[in-house]
Amino acid sequence: MFRKLKLVPGWTSGQEFYAQHGVPWLADDEHARLRDLPDEQRSAFLAQDDGAPPGTLFARFNGSPLYATRMADLRGVEQRKFLDATGTHRNRGPADIARYGILVESAESGVFGPHHMLPEDARVRVRPPDEAMYALALYVESLGPAPSPYPFDERARRGQEIFASEGCAKCHTQPLYTNNKLVPVPGFDPPPSAEISERRVGTDPGLALRTRKGTGFYKVPSLRGVWYRGLYEHDGSVNSLEDWFDPRRLSEDYVPSGWRGLGVQQRAVPGHEFGLELSPEDKAALIAFLRTL
Ligand code: HEC
Repeated sequence: MFRKLKLVPGWTSGQEFYAQHGVPWLADDEHARLRDLPDEQRSAFLAQDDGAPPGTLFARFNGSPLYATRMADLRGVEQRKFLDATGTHRNRGPADIARYGILVESAESGVFGPHHMLPEDARVRVRPPDEAMYALALYVESLGPAPSPYPFDERARRGQEIFASEGCAKCHTQPLYTNNKLVPVPGFDPPPSAEISERRVGTDPGLALRTRKGTGFYKVPSLRGVWYRGLYEHDGSVNSLEDWFDPRRLSEDYVPSGWRGLGVQQRAVPGHEFGLELSPEDKAALIAFLRTL
């Protein structure tokens, strides 16, 4: 899952790794520990199975192989106020999506803090025309939610009632099934703001606190299209809605059905405990409803 990207001729693979994923402002950054390992040990560590189905997760530049992010779902992005699982960027319209594309595809040199590269490597080498990126953004925005093939039958109707009575809509608010807010992770206490949820969900804070994607938040995902999304939660820890609503995922000896972590065999998938205690019938109804969205 680890993609190698050569940045500066002559750099050691440890330096390259750190330039892509290091978090210099953390005192105990795991990426610094990995940088300092002998090459064979680092390679062996990064080559371990992480449980993710091929092609669904990869450690992007500025992301981390230690705290994965699942592939983003672009359908419906037009109506999302924030981009990335941790809400690193605002989305106020096609210009923001175009800027995001330009940044990640060509303009992000990675030069900051102690990462000073040779000046010629810090240069932006390829830059698509703004008009092309704006047109691309308009195309991406045109990808509306995919209509669900699941029927809105009696069971789904019952599930809709459970969705309302369990308070899911406070965060997954109709019609987008997200209130478009950011939820602070455990260990982060920002000042109140209209864009920040007062309620928390308590999912694993690693991506939001220990990577360069770390804003301290996870955004409330839209539930439109959960029927095909395949991997759930920001890091894709589980691969079915049944597993997401299974309370066994809170135990340390749980084997996540999605991304487990490099070399990890079992671990808890904590947080978002909503709906975990429903009866099997109610849970099946709730899931049937979610699949219609
Ligand atoms: C306090 C706000 C809040 C409430 C209440 C809430 N959720 Fe969520 N939900 C979230 C957040 C935030 C995430 C993403 C967490 C993460 O990625 O770490 C999420 C993720 C999900 C996901 C996974 C979506 C995906 O694309 O990975 C589903 C499904 C879901 N919620 C359904 C529900 C249902 C059903 C209820 C009620 C039983 C509910 N949620 C209650 C905030 C909330």
